Amino acid sequence: MPQATKIIADAITDLSAEGIARAIGTLVTGNSLAPGARLPTVRELAGALSVSPTTVGDAWQILRRHRVIHTEGRRGSFVRDLAQDRTPRYWRVPTTGDAIKVDLSSGVPDARLLPDPLPIIRELRESPVVASYLEPPVLTSLEEILRARWPFDPERITILNGAMDALDRLIQAVVTVGDKVGISDPGFPPLFDMLDLAGAESIPLPLDDAGLEPDAVRRAADNGMTTLIIQSRAHNPVGISMTPQRRDELASILAGRPILVLEDDHSGSVSSAELVSLGSVIPEQVVYVWSFSKSHGPDFRLAAVGGVADPINSVERRRTLGPSWTSRLLQGILASMLTSDAVEASIAVATDTYAQRRKQVVERLASHGVTVGGSDGLNIWIPVQNEAIAVPMLAAHGIGVARGQPFRLVSDNNHHIRVTTSALDNNWEEITDRLAEASHGYVDATPNQNGGRR
Ligand SMILES: Cc1ncc(COP(=O)(O)O)c(C=O)c1O
Repeated sequence: MPQATKIIADAITDLSAEGIARAIGTLVTGNSLAPGARLPTVRELAGALSVSPTTVGDAWQILRRHRVIHTEGRRGSFVRDLAQDRTPRYWRVPTTGDAIKVDLSSGVPDARLLPDPLPIIRELRESPVVASYLEPPVLTSLEEILRARWPFDPERITILNGAMDALDRLIQAVVTVGDKVGISDPGFPPLFDMLDLAGAESIPLPLDDAGLEPDAVRRAADNGMTTLIIQSRAHNPVGISMTPQRRDELASILAGRPILVLEDDHSGSVSSAELVSLGSVIPEQVVYVWSFSKSHGPDFRLAAVGGVADPINSVERRRTLGPSWTSRLLQGILASMLTSDAVEASIAVATDTYAQRRKQVVERLASHGVTVGGSDGLNIWIPVQNEAIAVPMLAAHGIGVARGQPFRLVSDNNHHIRVTTSALDNNWEEITDRLAEASHGYVDATPNQNGGRR
């Protein structure tokens, strides 16, 4: 019997799948099985233990789910080298250093454009119930407001702690190891990370001006995609919003297939595009996530999640083992904000301002010969000759931007930087000129429309 098989067989006393997985886990933590070590085949170990191959297969599943081992097709299964595990992409989106005076790398809203919650808090109509573990997880008044505004009739609505929390919990509830999940490339780095952690096979889907490209979605669906993640509007990083025609095309591809669509509306009410949801066509296949972070304030950590009941029920059940619900006090404040004319007016101003700031930068970049797509949201996705040059070039002017690479699922030679335009008011012209130079990789001497040099 090969040495590794003997070590493993000797360590196993409980012959259930869980027992086998536990014993191997202990060998890995104790370093008796080193990172990279090849495990016996399922048949080999099943023979050595006199158990069925299904039991060992189930143990392998458990170990993969807990990221103790990974399987490389016919080459077999190996102990995972955690030290070599990729740094999550999200942590590679740069933070600012001392030299950065204007940080355009963050993707966050302009704090000056968020509505003031203080008048609402002072005038809360209902006394908040803070003494109970036993109230329902969603405030009835908030659910009524949300249902009246939902883009389709949701079987179930709940409240979670922001879109990231919602997507993380939904992915954990519906994605199992080896599942194929379609997601836009470029896309939002933490979503790629969540899918990696779930052991999913992420299928990169390209975008055009109208949203995800239908042919790519069809191919993914034909190839066994079980979940599709869509940023319905103000796509981060590219700023594209799905058109109604594209929604209909995608819905006709997906209808009736065993594919769940998770719609991440992270910009919510500050998006300048109308919400176009697949839920209005195939509601039995969609969970729509509506974040209030960009519109009402990131610190509320609130997102509403509504759609087909099963995945939402799974998330709620699992959450009862943890925080169980999202503060009803905050839910009450949100309910009041959603029905306040003053707050609505403030959000309308913010929406127009974000659209205007984005547009003016995009138009000025175009005058430098730099074409940027999309028309919505807080960010722009600027093509650059080389991001390894563009980022330090801008940092030398005190401008912080995000490298494009963490936003890519598949790296290629198309380099980009992601620039947040949400708070770009003063000096936007000068900063845009620096962005154009960085895009070209050299100082731009193109005359502008006034004939001057920048
Ligand atoms: C695509 C995407 N999803 C989710 C989020 C995070 O949303 P929240 O702050 O509600 O967690 C962001 C934030 O920028 C985002 O761009």
